[in-house]
Amino acid sequence: MIIAAVSRKQQILESISQFLSEFDRSDQFSQDSNQEQPYTLISINGGMQQAVAVAEQERPDLLLLESSEDETNDLQILGNVTARFPSLGVIMLCPNPSPERLLEVMRVGVREALPTPPTRDSLLSAINRFQQRIKQASMPVRNGKVLAFIPCKGGSGATFLATNLAYTLAAQNNQRVALIDFNLQLGDASLFLSDSKSPASIADVARQIHRLDGAFLASSMIQITPNLGILAAPDEPEKATEIKPEHVNPILQVAIKNYDFVILDIGRRMDSVSVQALDKADMIFPVMQQTLPFIRDAKRLIDVFRSLGYHKDKLRLVVNRYDKKSQITLDDIQNTLKCEVFKSIPNNFSVVDESVNHGVPVHKLAPRSPIAKAVEDIGNELSQNTEQQQRWFRKLFS
Ligand SMILES: Nc1ncnc2c1ncn2[C@@H]1O[C@H](COP(=O)(O)OP(=O)(O)OP(=O)(O)O)[C@@H](O)[C@H]1O
Ligand SMILES: [Mg+2]
Repeated sequence: MIIAAVSRKQQILESISQFLSEFDRSDQFSQDSNQEQPYTLISINGGMQQAVAVAEQERPDLLLLESSEDETNDLQILGNVTARFPSLGVIMLCPNPSPERLLEVMRVGVREALPTPPTRDSLLSAINRFQQRIKQASMPVRNGKVLAFIPCKGGSGATFLATNLAYTLAAQNNQRVALIDFNLQLGDASLFLSDSKSPASIADVARQIHRLDGAFLASSMIQITPNLGILAAPDEPEKATEIKPEHVNPILQVAIKNYDFVILDIGRRMDSVSVQALDKADMIFPVMQQTLPFIRDAKRLIDVFRSLGYHKDKLRLVVNRYDKKSQITLDDIQNTLKCEVFKSIPNNFSVVDESVNHGVPVHKLAPRSPIAKAVEDIGNELSQNTEQQQRWFRKLFS
């Protein structure tokens, strides 16, 4: 990013240069760690009149322009600059701008006004906001699919499958994936893929719901791979009550627009928050095992889904820890539950145990294992469907 700073005051130029060079790359300033040098600074000792020439000659992405209220024609000059270079960001530096003045400069396309002399924090935050905005603008608007995983009974393997499918879709199928832990009381999804601490939780996002956009959502997640983020459950169960049903739609709307797949790990306890999330899901994956207690609870859960009015096409029943030698067959399960089995996942204690204990997905730990292949199968099927749909959609409008 090229930043041009224009000021008559040498001291302001020096502070800007010092703040930018001091900044530590692990800081929030640039989240793109691939960037060796996140900015190039061009300092120009001059006034507002030079703005157009600087914009033309240097082609900066961001112009930091010092202005005083006594400059004549400054609004006209600013208007010229922003009209000729619509993608150029302009941040004005001026001593205590009045609200009227602020409004005037914003009308001619200035993004922000910072009081002079600028402080390190105010300057870096304003630049960071600008950088986030261009990053967002360059990302395509997506229309992600929402997949909800729910255990028919405790310990079914819903979290294991949700997290491992999320990883496989991101790593193998190159999809952008967000996993949201809706197991609000006892959420543990992030531990299946990482041992890092989450920067924030779904409760923090709910508390600042009016600020929520793609960049805020991404910065609240643990980034597992460049394509996969997890929005963790609150670290204290009491905070679960802070998430209200009215928070669910905005969180999912923002996630859908920024990711190809939004995977929800729904806890065993059904409440108004989880129903809101299930309503929004394109597919619900009830996860069960092959024994009578699981079948009993699966029946109850599927009945609940029927009474909530979910169409049977929305359900993708998964039989986990499947053993073909078991007395209870897949046909028995389908006949009893009157619901088709979407997939069966093999029982693989040694691989799963190691994966769960170390927080490493099976796709990475044992890519050739039958369990990794079974998850990969689901990933391939889901991403193929989305690609087909996208092709069909493009054809329709071409
Ligand atoms: N296919 C499998 N083969 C072997 N072990 C498995 C398999 N799937 C899951 N497990 C084991 O079952 C345990 C429970 O899985 P998981 O935590 O995903 O269940 P859950 O349905 O999310 O339960 P909870 O109600 O606690 O949220 C895991 O720790 C894992 O060790
Ligand atoms: Mg779970």
